[in-house]
Amino acid sequence: MGRGANDQGTLIIGGGVIGMSIGWRLAQRGEPVTILEKGQAGQEASSAAAGMLSIANEVKFQEDLSLLLRLESMKLYPDFVGDLESSSGHDVDYRTDGAIAISLHADDTAELRNLYEYQLEKKLPVRWLSGNEARELEPVLAGFVVAGVMCPMDHQVDNRKLVEALKAAYLRAGGELHEHCEVEEVRLQTGSSPEVLAAGEVWRAKRLVLAAGSWSGLIPGLQSWLRPLVRPVKGQALALTMPSADFLTHMIKTPDVYMAPKSDGRLVVGATVEEMGFNRDVTAGAIYELLRGAWRAVPSVYELPLQETWCGFRPGSRDNAPILGKTDVEGFYVATGHFRNGIINTPVTAKFMSELILDDSTPELLQRLSPSRFVRGG
Ligand code: FAD
Ligand code: GLY
Repeated sequence: MGRGANDQGTLIIGGGVIGMSIGWRLAQRGEPVTILEKGQAGQEASSAAAGMLSIANEVKFQEDLSLLLRLESMKLYPDFVGDLESSSGHDVDYRTDGAIAISLHADDTAELRNLYEYQLEKKLPVRWLSGNEARELEPVLAGFVVAGVMCPMDHQVDNRKLVEALKAAYLRAGGELHEHCEVEEVRLQTGSSPEVLAAGEVWRAKRLVLAAGSWSGLIPGLQSWLRPLVRPVKGQALALTMPSADFLTHMIKTPDVYMAPKSDGRLVVGATVEEMGFNRDVTAGAIYELLRGAWRAVPSVYELPLQETWCGFRPGSRDNAPILGKTDVEGFYVATGHFRNGIINTPVTAKFMSELILDDSTPELLQRLSPSRFVRGG
């Protein structure tokens, strides 16, 4: 596979958590895999994320497909982490303390109650908390927190450690990774194996997987009906340094921001949701709003050192669910559109895509995520 005329194995465009996890699962089964990555693996959305594995806290009305997929992925998470940590030798800071959604006013409380009833309808194991009960769990919460919902199923990882672990596990399993190797053109022709042009060379494989996150619809050469309908949804975020590891134990979600405490002492505060194309500015206004939102819920964050600010691009699809599976062109697959849930959906995506590629397995849930559900101009 790779440069030249050999058309075995699988070529993956994009080395984010999605491309690397699919590559790792394929390589573990003996498939020759090559990932072509335009920058450094894992440094785009996959590093910008907060690492929350949100089941209850990402529930949205009428987004049942997305919930089903997250539930499926969470069933896989503990074993996935176990396998990844032992295969890579890296810890990914998998934490199962849970999350608390809080309200700060009467109208927030009505909204929280409404969502809580929906979470109960979906049989999620959530628990209503008074303000005092929330403060017993997290003493740094503000005195005027009105109510909370405890979400014990919402776990987290340190996504930057996840990226490093996936890269190491993938390479140890025999995968090839070419960084700073941008795919400039995709060439698909009936009757011949897929090819791409990257770094001035032609790369050919039996199968090609497009996992280029927010850039998936932009690579030249793809006919318009094959280009996934994804757009970049900008998220700005920041990290504070906590004074001690138990400053906050749970992830906290307020109506304005979320906070995710990591075991290395970072408190990740996020995030904006902006339709700004690929604009990479980190703005004073966004950082001000994030800090203000965090401070309202946890006043003592005022004293914490500001460690880092950043932004990233969530690959958003039209229905906010990923676009996964085969296309109508033999050997050409798509795995993108993970929007706000790419970290939680990494295990299920890697499983579905690797089993589709190697075993032609298409469980019902995967069929529902097929690229064919969107047709450009349709
Ligand atoms: P990416 O990580 O963006 O990877 C795509 C890769 O493709 C990039 O490395 C890019 O360089 C490469 N590429 C692009 N074009 C080419 C080309 N032509 N040739 C070669 N390579 C190319 N999800 C959660 O589950 N939990 C969270 O808490 C969470 N928080 C988030 C917070 C923020 C602020 C943001 C921005 C996102 C968050 N997400 C979260 C979403 C999650 O980060 C994404 O869904 C996920 O990282 C998408 O992974 P990916 O591999 O598809 O994309
Ligand atoms: N899932 C958190 C975010 O996208 O900001």
